[in-house]
Amino acid sequence: MRGLENKRVLITGAASGIGRATAQRFYDEGANICLVDMPELKESELEHQFPERMTYLQADITKESDLIAIQSWINDGVDVVINNAGITRDATIGKMTTEHWDQVIAVNLTAVYHISQMAAIKMREQKSGVILNAASVVAHNGNFGQTNYVATKAGLIGMSKTLAKELGKYGVRVNAVAPGFIGTPMVRSMPEKVVAMMEEKVPLKRLGEPEEIAAVYAFLSSDDARYITGTCINVDGGIIV
Ligand SMILES: NC(=O)c1ccc[n+]([C@@H]2O[C@H](COP(=O)([O-])OP(=O)(O)OC[C@H]3O[C@@H](n4cnc5c(N)ncnc54)[C@H](O)[C@@H]3O)[C@@H](O)[C@H]2O)c1
Repeated sequence: MRGLENKRVLITGAASGIGRATAQRFYDEGANICLVDMPELKESELEHQFPERMTYLQADITKESDLIAIQSWINDGVDVVINNAGITRDATIGKMTTEHWDQVIAVNLTAVYHISQMAAIKMREQKSGVILNAASVVAHNGNFGQTNYVATKAGLIGMSKTLAKELGKYGVRVNAVAPGFIGTPMVRSMPEKVVAMMEEKVPLKRLGEPEEIAAVYAFLSSDDARYITGTCINVDGGIIV
């Protein structure tokens, strides 16, 4: 992929699933990666996977005190920010609590706003940069039991379009990526029957792989995507056709 070597790339939620695959992809492209996530990961485990060009920031992106380390990394220069961290707290509307609502808004939306703001200010000054936000195909059509999650993912698409309009003149591009059913550990651990039902609904008849989302993040961050901003790319095997 053109133009990713030596780029400074920050990925939230990088310890697991799509975030981990994205970290691997950018590392393989020669980028300097900053991985942000909550678990206390063993240094040896990370160093084995990423022997160089890697910083791990153990941070809860909903905590202002933890955002300071992220701000400091960004202030040293940032080329790509991938707001990948996301959570679900599913319940139908009668059972959803304010706590469910607030938790999902805090991680999926408010933290993205804070990190994007930090990145935007630095990227505006640099006159270059890419911000990518993890939406979901459910943002387009809604999803049973996910009022909170869908509201955040639809919100991220709107946020990406608005930032694209504000930052385009500074050479900063902002896009969203909307995965469909992706075979992350969470999805793979569901009963086989449920996974088979999901696969049946997808025109390509299989779940997506985390690496297939990582590939789109890499493309959108590369020089090949230099005229793409303010859009949302569905990576879903055709599920919403
Ligand atoms: N897997 C799918 O099928 C799918 C579909 C559509 C959208 N997505 C979106 O893609 C993104 C990644 O999904 P995934 O399946 O890889 O998820 P995952 O649960 O495997 O990974 C999410 C990571 O985010 C981290 N995280 C959560 N809260 C955090 C916080 N407060 N601070 C820092 N890190 C935090 C978690 O620790 C975890 O490592 C999410 O935004 C998700 O909504 C996933």
